Amino acid sequence: MSILVTGGAGYIGSHTCIELLNAGYEIVVVDNFFNSKPEALKRITEITKKSFSFYQADLLDKTALEKVFSENNIDAVIHFAGLKAVNESIKIPLHYYHNNVTGTLILCEIMKKYNIKKLIFSSSANVYGRPKYVPVTEDSSLGPINPYGRTKLIIEEILNDLYISDHNWSISLLRYFNPIGAHESGKIGEDPNDIPNNLMPYINQVAIGKREKVNIFGKDYNTHDGTGVRDYIHVVDLAKGHLKALEMVLGTTGIDVFNLGTGVGYSVLDLIKSYENITSQKIPYGFTQRRAGDIDKCYADTTKANEKLGWKAAKNLEDMCYDSWKWQKNNPNGYRE
Ligand code: NAD
Ligand code: UD1
Repeated sequence: MSILVTGGAGYIGSHTCIELLNAGYEIVVVDNFFNSKPEALKRITEITKKSFSFYQADLLDKTALEKVFSENNIDAVIHFAGLKAVNESIKIPLHYYHNNVTGTLILCEIMKKYNIKKLIFSSSANVYGRPKYVPVTEDSSLGPINPYGRTKLIIEEILNDLYISDHNWSISLLRYFNPIGAHESGKIGEDPNDIPNNLMPYINQVAIGKREKVNIFGKDYNTHDGTGVRDYIHVVDLAKGHLKALEMVLGTTGIDVFNLGTGVGYSVLDLIKSYENITSQKIPYGFTQRRAGDIDKCYADTTKANEKLGWKAAKNLEDMCYDSWKWQKNNPNGYRE
């Protein structure tokens, strides 16, 4: 059984490649290294002791992508490749729409040509925009508030239309909440190119001494301690969710959408305190204004994934903090050693 993983050198993709290889799948990885490094792929082999095919290719390059399909007997595709920075998407929306939406269109056209109709797509809790209630269920109203989130919703709609046109497709839309943490080996993890936008990589850089303190964006939210609440999920639990979704798409046809989170919301202060407790690193912080576009709380109702996929996140906040720090400590400069 051979699985094509687009964006397999990236943060979530690399962790999922490990789970796939450990479960006995063959994998073919495609990535253009726009937001990742070849070293991540080397480490996947180091951890799993298994080799796999890799193509350095851009999804927008139809010829290069078609070569991947003509040279391999692919059974299903897990599609991670995409751009994901919310602020950047506001500055360069056309680039985001082209990369994410056109890239997916090209991928689906080639899949159709090669009669491969099993697909798992990386969507995001961002499609919910400002949730009207928490926990958020899959049938909550949708309304992303930035171009990044809209690329995800547009792709979900395209894939729904694709299924309506041809019921032989089997598609799983996975809406991730806030993935953090790293592989327990400490060899792979999240490696931001620039100043991190997201909380956990920022905390990691404070812990390692690259940044002075965490700026907490707002202390007057309607939450238990005034700071924003999110559903942080360990990236390895998330990766395992893909294997469950894969079993489902391989065995059926249809299209379905699942929230992948823990179902528990933690605040910024909860996360900092847990990180300090489990790593014994002091994390200085101060409060600044709210970040534009932020919401007070967002966490998932995961009942559907629990029941239909037979998947449940197993790791807790301390595991997430411990593994994040282990990765950062072992790789102070990420993959750029
Ligand atoms: P990432 O940036 O680490 O990984 C994405 C990978 O895709 C990178 O290796 C990048 O080089 C590659 N890529 C991008 N465009 C490409 C193209 N046109 N052709 C080939 N390769 C391309 O991101 P991630 O955190 O691993 O996220 C994976 C997916 O999950 C993305 O689609 C993202 O939008 C989605 N997602 C991520 C989060 C999160 O917080 N990390 C949350 C929700 C959804
Ligand atoms: C952000 C993105 C979202 C994306 C998600 C995961 C925005 C508006 N949203 O969401 O689309 O799906 O990342 O990649 O960018 N915080 C601080 N200080 C920091 C960083 C964050 O206080 O330096 C706070 C935020 O206000 C928030 C929480 O930490 O309350 C989590 O922030 P972050 O990790 O950026 O995730 P999201 O805001 O959920």
